[in-house]
Amino acid sequence: MAENAPTGLGEPPSVAALSLAETATTPAKHLTEQEINPWDVQAGTDEHGNTLEFDYVAISQKWNTKLLDKATLERFERLTGKKPHRWLRRGLFFSHRDFDLILDYYERGEPFMLYTGRGPSAGSLHVGHSIPFEFTKWLQDVFDVPLVIMLTDDEKFLFKEGLTIEAVKKFSIENAKDAIAMGYDLKKTFIYSDFLFMGSGSNGHFYENAMEFSKLVNFNQMRGAFGFDGSTSSGRVFFPNLQCVAAFASSYPFIWGDDIEADRKATTAAIPCLIPCAIDQDPYFRLVRDNSLRMQRPSPKPALIHSKFLTSLQGAGGKMSASVPMSAIFLDDTPNQIKKKINASFSGGQETLELHRELGGNPDVDVPYQYLCYFEDDDEKLDRFYHAYKKGEMLTGEMKKECITLVQSYVKSFQEARAKVTDEVVKEYMKPRKLEWKGNPNPTKPPKKAEEATEKADADGQKGQGKRAAKRAAKAAEKAAGDASKGA
Ligand code: TRP
Repeated sequence: MAENAPTGLGEPPSVAALSLAETATTPAKHLTEQEINPWDVQAGTDEHGNTLEFDYVAISQKWNTKLLDKATLERFERLTGKKPHRWLRRGLFFSHRDFDLILDYYERGEPFMLYTGRGPSAGSLHVGHSIPFEFTKWLQDVFDVPLVIMLTDDEKFLFKEGLTIEAVKKFSIENAKDAIAMGYDLKKTFIYSDFLFMGSGSNGHFYENAMEFSKLVNFNQMRGAFGFDGSTSSGRVFFPNLQCVAAFASSYPFIWGDDIEADRKATTAAIPCLIPCAIDQDPYFRLVRDNSLRMQRPSPKPALIHSKFLTSLQGAGGKMSASVPMSAIFLDDTPNQIKKKINASFSGGQETLELHRELGGNPDVDVPYQYLCYFEDDDEKLDRFYHAYKKGEMLTGEMKKECITLVQSYVKSFQEARAKVTDEVVKEYMKPRKLEWKGNPNPTKPPKKAEEATEKADADGQKGQGKRAAKRAAKAAEKAAGDASKGA
C-alpha cells in the first residue's frame, strides 16, 4: 500500500477521524479496480493480484461526496453537547452529503427524520450489520427525532435467486428483532417489512410517491445508477423507486398524525431526512437527491452519512460476509466461537516472539486491533495499545485477548437484549402509528425564512421547474417547522 494512503481505522484514534479528509492518495497500480455497488462490493487488486484495501477517498471522489471533517464534528459537538460517537471520531463513518444542513435544521429546532434499512437475510446478523443500526440508534438519542427502518424483503426476493416471498417475510421479522435489540425508543421508531407494510392498507401515500417518482425516473437513469441491462428483470428495475421514496416523510402520513385517507400533504413531504448507510447504498440516494425536488409535493434532497465496510476477519480488502462464516462474528456466536474466530484472524504481528519484540507489530493491518477500534470507547487505551504494539511491547496474543473479551461482552449484551424481544414487541414497532419526539430542546437560531431556504436550494444548482419546486419545498418546510413545534 502506498505510504500515505488512508488507513482509516488503523490509525491512532487521535488522528483517525482526520485521516481521510487530510491525506491525498497516491494511486496504486491496479490489476482490477474496486467495485462498489449496492449488490456487489469487491476491493481492487494490485499488479500481482493481491487484494488491496478499499480506497474510500477514491470512492468519495468518484461519487462526489464530502469527507466528514473535523470542523463538522466540532460543530456537531457544539450543537448537541455530545461527544461524537467513536465511529465518527475514528472515521468509520467517513463521508456525507448535506450533513451540515441537518445540523442547520437541528440548530433551528426544525424537524427532520432518520431513515435506515436492511435487506433481511436468513439467520443472525453479523457485527458488521449491527453498526448502522447501532449508530442510527445513537443519532436518534442525540437528535431526538423520529426514525423509520425499512426491511427490504422485496429487494431480497428480487435480487437473490431461489428465495420465496414466504421465506423472506420471515427473515424480516427475525431481523426486526435484531434491530429492536439495539434499543430504539418505541415512541420514536417505525420498523416495516416492505411486503407486510405495502399490503397493509396504511401505505397508500407510500405507493403514490413510488408511482409518481417512478414516472420521473427513466430507464437510462436507472441503468446509469445501477448498471442494469436488457435482461434485468423489470422488478429489479422498479425496486429502487421504493428504497428512494422511503426517504420522503410523506410516505408515512401516520407518523405525523396526517389523515391516511386524505391526499399527501406538501408540508409533510417537506420534512427533511438523514440517512445513515454504508457507502455502497449511495447510488440509490443520488437518484432520490436528483429527483426529490421534482415531485409534485417536493421533498428536500435527503442528507446522507456514509460508513466504510467492516474489515473481514481475514484482513484488509475483505468485507464481512453473511455467507462466509469465518469472515465475521455473528450476533448469535457463542463466546467460544468468538474466541476461535479472533484467534484465527489476520494479525499484524511478527512470525516469532523474538522478531515481534525486536521489530514490533503493525496495528494498521492487525484485525484484532481494528476490532478494538470498533468496540472500545476509550481513546486513550487504544492509543496505548497502538503504540505498545508498534514497539513490540504488546504481543499479538495480548491484543487478541483484549479483543476477544470486548467482542464477547458486546455480543453477550446484544443476546440478552434480543432474548427479550417477543413477537408481540415486534408487532408494536411495526404498527403504523403517530410517533412522539421532542427534537432540539434549546434551538439557538430561529427557523429559517422561506426565501433563504430557496436561495440555498438554488445554489445547489436546481434549474427551471426545480427552482420553483425548491421554492415550494422551502415554503412547505417553513410551515412544517411551525406545525411540528406546535404539535409533536
Ligand atoms: N438496500 C439495503 C440492503 O440491501 C436496505 C436498505 C433500504 C437501506 N433502505 C435503506 C440501507 C436505507 C441503508 C439505508 O441492505
